[in-house]
Amino acid sequence: MQNIYWDLLKKNREKSKDRRIETLFQSDKNRFKEFAIEIEDLYFDYSKTNIDSEILKNLIAYAKNLKIMNSINAMFEGEKINVTEKRSALHTALRNFKANDLTNLYKINKKLLVRFKDLSKFCNQIRTGQKKSGSGSKFTDVVNIGIGGSELGPKLVTAALSEYHNGPKIHFVSNIDPSDISKIIKNLDPNKTLFIISSKSFTTTETINNAKKALKWVCEILGSNGLKNFVAVCSAKEKALDFGILKENIFEFDEWVGGRFSIWGPIGLPVMLSIGTDQFKNFLEGASQIDNHFKNEEISYNIPIILALIGFWHSSICQYSSRAILPYDSKLEYLPTYLQQLDMESNGKSVNLNGERINYPTTPVIWGHIGTNSQHAFFQFLHQSNQVIPCEFLLGANCLDNKYYDSHHLQLIVNCLAQSEALMFGIKNETQSKEETNEHRNCDGNKPSTILIYKKITPKILGKLLAIFEHRTFAEGLLWNVNSFDQWGVELGKNIARRLTDSISQKDRNNNFSKSTLNLLNKIREYKYF
Ligand code: F6P
Repeated sequence: MQNIYWDLLKKNREKSKDRRIETLFQSDKNRFKEFAIEIEDLYFDYSKTNIDSEILKNLIAYAKNLKIMNSINAMFEGEKINVTEKRSALHTALRNFKANDLTNLYKINKKLLVRFKDLSKFCNQIRTGQKKSGSGSKFTDVVNIGIGGSELGPKLVTAALSEYHNGPKIHFVSNIDPSDISKIIKNLDPNKTLFIISSKSFTTTETINNAKKALKWVCEILGSNGLKNFVAVCSAKEKALDFGILKENIFEFDEWVGGRFSIWGPIGLPVMLSIGTDQFKNFLEGASQIDNHFKNEEISYNIPIILALIGFWHSSICQYSSRAILPYDSKLEYLPTYLQQLDMESNGKSVNLNGERINYPTTPVIWGHIGTNSQHAFFQFLHQSNQVIPCEFLLGANCLDNKYYDSHHLQLIVNCLAQSEALMFGIKNETQSKEETNEHRNCDGNKPSTILIYKKITPKILGKLLAIFEHRTFAEGLLWNVNSFDQWGVELGKNIARRLTDSISQKDRNNNFSKSTLNLLNKIREYKYF
């Protein structure tokens, strides 16, 4: 992996590390245009990074040397690129049809089309009240029970498309913490509430425990008829049947759809229920357009690949250890959390595709929050700490209602742009008055940022944004030579929790736990009220 281009990039870094980003605009008058890519209604600007044309050339050469386009094609073609689980990563197949032309599908998509039609039918029946609850009522509320990829995508998209909601009200329960489910159901009516049990494996402890609680809550009122209030979305039909879910209420997806890439299929049911199937198709259509862009556009104009190269430059060459995601759009409130799973579960790895340990940093820590709120929380750190955090801004050109909120929205726009200026320029000492020239007020600036501008969050544009991020994650994984589609690291904690459960219930007393853990367990027993 660490080939000639990697060495060249390291040399580039050595040479440019003290250079100020703003000087790049003086040496290249067209930089603002050249370090930007526009595709239809999206504009991506990376001119405020310290990447110059020499660095860009070497980054692109690095990607080409890895034959990145061949690996991208392999994903679209369904090759088993998830080598440790011997699976394809074919989430793109879930959106591989035109919104209004459901016949234009590949072979594999015939099955997906039938499933999509079944799901749409079910969704319409719920929305119109044709399909009723166990007590004969129309469903007014839907609770999605799921965690990780079975929650983060649907939650982000449902919240982001709130302007399009015209179906039942959607709620999300994920945590094993009982307060999560109790705070949701206490305000709901079991006669009118539909539960979607969303779990690819249908074994996840949090989800199954919450689902059992919900089942008890409904069936105490409706008896066995309450099962009509339950739907399963999974890749493990038998397990859902064993749980008691009615056969006609199970919606399956294939094992080759990774949990964190699954929003495009039945895992998107809560979104479909809230905005309707036509708008959901627009969401898929947006993503599908990005698939074509990612597959066919040359590297220098390919937004996901350029984003990945910037990520690679910042993490592996500059050794910046985190990346801030800063949507100046309240609708994207859940984007940072969604990207945490997408990037960190996919590329938080230290072994390459050949099973060898690697000695370079892969994915940075992903964090962030919406602007302008984040300005009043952690921007102090971005401007004055001695760490460099590459920032990714996202900004919509239009708001909810331009007629009434335009000047209000203008404030959001200027704040976002002002922050990107401030990060680059800092406070220049020479422009400060005497009393201002003290170290406490100094902002060094020279902090890289990018910005992605879109017209407005619509289902189609949101589909495009999420597909860009998915492909960036995969492309970064290729640059780091890791498998972006497995997540073995999360198993260890789950296993220890299982052993602890057994130990507490006396099934297995011989498990070895640390003295610290045993002491903490005793302390918890001591603190318990009963
Ligand atoms: O524990 C991690 C994980 O496996 C994620 O990859 C996944 O999105 C989440 O748990 C939920 O898994 P499931 O959909 O099988 O319940």
